[in-house]
Amino acid sequence: MTTPFGMRATATEVLEGTDLTGRRALVTGGASGLGTETVRALAAAGAHVTVATRDPRAADGLVAEFPQVRAEALDLADPDSVRAFCAAWSGPLDMLVANAGVMMLPDRRFNAQGWETQLATNYLGHFSLALGLLPALREADRARVVTLSSGAHLRAPFDFDDPHFERRPYDAFTAYARSKTADVLLAVGIQRRWAEYGITANACAPGWIHTNLTRHLDQATMRAFGAMDEHGELVTPDYYKTPEQGAATTVLLAASPLLDGIGGRYFEDNQESPVVDGGPEPMAGVARWSIDPVAADRLWEYAQPVALGALS
Ligand SMILES: NC(=O)c1ccc[n+]([C@@H]2O[C@H](COP(=O)([O-])OP(=O)(O)OC[C@H]3O[C@@H](n4cnc5c(N)ncnc54)[C@H](OP(=O)(O)O)[C@@H]3O)[C@@H](O)[C@H]2O)c1
Repeated sequence: MTTPFGMRATATEVLEGTDLTGRRALVTGGASGLGTETVRALAAAGAHVTVATRDPRAADGLVAEFPQVRAEALDLADPDSVRAFCAAWSGPLDMLVANAGVMMLPDRRFNAQGWETQLATNYLGHFSLALGLLPALREADRARVVTLSSGAHLRAPFDFDDPHFERRPYDAFTAYARSKTADVLLAVGIQRRWAEYGITANACAPGWIHTNLTRHLDQATMRAFGAMDEHGELVTPDYYKTPEQGAATTVLLAASPLLDGIGGRYFEDNQESPVVDGGPEPMAGVARWSIDPVAADRLWEYAQPVALGALS
């Protein structure tokens, strides 16, 4: 499918004319970066938005800005926190935006379930959250789920043989890339299983945007990414977006009528992406390994017992 929006469209522009009054959204990681602009655009269109964040005080500004925005504590890497969040949720949920993420933790770390932390946060926590909130999604009329992936997914398929780097040396970027492949597979898996409840799910890559996401990167890595000069100053290449532009594809998928009934797909720059062979070369598109229904089912079966375990 195509939309009238290009890569420079902002989240507000994408939702112009869309009335979300009476609709309820949950945005993980909504207290910073792209999540904040996602919350702003959805709330400005009339939605009630819950910001899920490790520190709800970080959302004080958003809560003050919009009367229909509230903040709740959620640590996606902590199964107890996910369980408590789901148990406290009541009423329908129209839009689940799986936006929170961590990138390139320098050392291999594990959460309480024994999962590598980037995978546990970016993928497993969101999978548990979606499972825990399934009754709320079903209660809504044609609910939507959006997962935030990244162009980094093009660099690594999900490694079913060694997902937590127990046999091979830990590599911070590969761990991030795998988790972002898993986020696309999560959207494909939700679409395959929950379409019968009227739920649709899509994944997106927001592009390149300066945010707190790079907090774990050293200066050499920032320079290699073209995001820093030799003096340690941030640089902004022309392909970078503002956070308002970076949140556009997210809200397109979460709330635009253009996406009615569409699911199981991957978008970037407000357009559906072509399927490409992943590897070191492609800079855009969705890797065949991320959109593969067989891999989506395999990952679902692999992770579901752990994700459900977090909720019991
Ligand atoms: N910026 C880019 O260029 C870019 C490119 C491709 C993809 N993305 C994706 O876009 C999404 C948003 O990232 P961003 O750029 O807006 O970065 P960001 O400003 O660092 O936002 C990430 C959010 O995730 C939250 N988070 C991290 N660990 C969490 C946990 N264990 N439980 C709950 N929340 C947690 C953070 O909350 P705290 O404040 O509690 O740390 C933060 O609010 C991420 O999924 C990222 O992978 C970004």
